[in-house]
Amino acid sequence: MLASPTRSTNRLVPFIPTRPRRSGLGDPRFAADLSYLNEGGYRPVRDEDFVAEPQVIGTLPVELDGCFLRSGPNAMGGRPAGGHLFAGAPMIHSVRLRDGRAQWYRNRYVRTDAVSRALGTLPAPGPRNGFFDDVNANVIHHAGRTLAVGDGGALPYEIGPQLETLGRTDLDGTLPGGLSAHPQVDSMTGELVAATFTPQSPCVTLLTIGTDGRVTRSTQLPMPGISMMHAFSITRQYAVLYDLPVTYGNGGARAGYRWDDDHGARLCIVPRSGGAGDVRRIEIEPAYVFHPVNAYEVGSDRIVVDVVRHERAFDHDALRPSESRPALWRWTVDLRAGTVAEQQLSEHCEEFPRMDDRFKGQAARYAFGVQMHRSGLAGDALLRHDLRTGTTDVHPVGPGQETGEAVFVPRGPSAPEADGWLLSMVYNAVHDRSEVQVIDTADFTGDPVAVVRLPVRVPHGFHSTWIPTGS
Ligand SMILES: [Fe+2]
Repeated sequence: MLASPTRSTNRLVPFIPTRPRRSGLGDPRFAADLSYLNEGGYRPVRDEDFVAEPQVIGTLPVELDGCFLRSGPNAMGGRPAGGHLFAGAPMIHSVRLRDGRAQWYRNRYVRTDAVSRALGTLPAPGPRNGFFDDVNANVIHHAGRTLAVGDGGALPYEIGPQLETLGRTDLDGTLPGGLSAHPQVDSMTGELVAATFTPQSPCVTLLTIGTDGRVTRSTQLPMPGISMMHAFSITRQYAVLYDLPVTYGNGGARAGYRWDDDHGARLCIVPRSGGAGDVRRIEIEPAYVFHPVNAYEVGSDRIVVDVVRHERAFDHDALRPSESRPALWRWTVDLRAGTVAEQQLSEHCEEFPRMDDRFKGQAARYAFGVQMHRSGLAGDALLRHDLRTGTTDVHPVGPGQETGEAVFVPRGPSAPEADGWLLSMVYNAVHDRSEVQVIDTADFTGDPVAVVRLPVRVPHGFHSTWIPTGS
């Protein structure tokens, strides 16, 4: 008989029952029913927990030696009705895997200024870049540092191995402003490339961060307006920025996203070694993209950019991107002609695309995603697209279960593309708790090879990260 996992709980703040409140200053776009945010897998958790030796069902591959992290918003004191899908204090969940065991689970808030105030503790140390420090968007790991990151000019927070907040960092004084939610790793050089923006300035700063974790190149790129640029793509030579018609309304960051027909839509293509005068802007059909899959060059005059594309977002619903069915699309840029061919690659409604990151920026064959039937942060199946054959495999997570973004871990350093495991946090509505499911890509549609059962619920969040031991 398996021993029960040991759990210790740190109750941080009183949990205030949610209550309806007016929001959005009468703007009808804020009238959407967001009661689901206080139900099921979307409810924030009250506590910071530690669980030793959570139960493992099946066989955890011994090659999985590291931490599986999941980031997301967790409103302190309960999520107010009428809130934004993306709003809430940054909370990170981590499951430590080693020797075929799950050693522990824990969750902690990142000690941003708002969190420190709510907890009555001193602010975290470190430099500042203005007052905006919301880093709930993602967790990345580069050059030995784990960083909680966000958009809008926020400086990253460095996170320790037990999820302790070490403080804000400007990368040893080399970061000229904030970072962004989705820096991209160049799989060929190991460099990290980021496109950062603030809601105050019509400029994007393109950063290259070396393998030593310091900024080696910073270029300011003027933009025609201020759009919400959550992510971008890189190829071997180029950065591809998405200048799309979701801009900031009067509410500023987060609550102020708004579809703006007047902004237009274009891809901005700039050589990674270039400057402001080298940006090529090519018009595309209006749409919005939160997350890319991959991009790569074909010959000297074409760039393929694969993304999850929303036909429309934040037009009639200001609180979540609910107005279209996001799907996998391909933009093929003809640099010679100055045109972009747009093609839908899959009929599946999906978000949170991922790939085998060892092939980022190269002509990769496979893409993964989360199938969704309503706007949100989790879905009922994981998808594997074969971009060469145009086929898609579906892995349903099962009745009463909802999966978040999956992260791919290769079977070994020289394993073929997409040969390894997918790890995702899955919410089980029947038992109101969560589990990490491990799928072997050799049997993608089969049962998970291992499930780490947590005695706690991990609220639906944004992104998943795998940090191998020793990296
Ligand atoms: Fe994101």
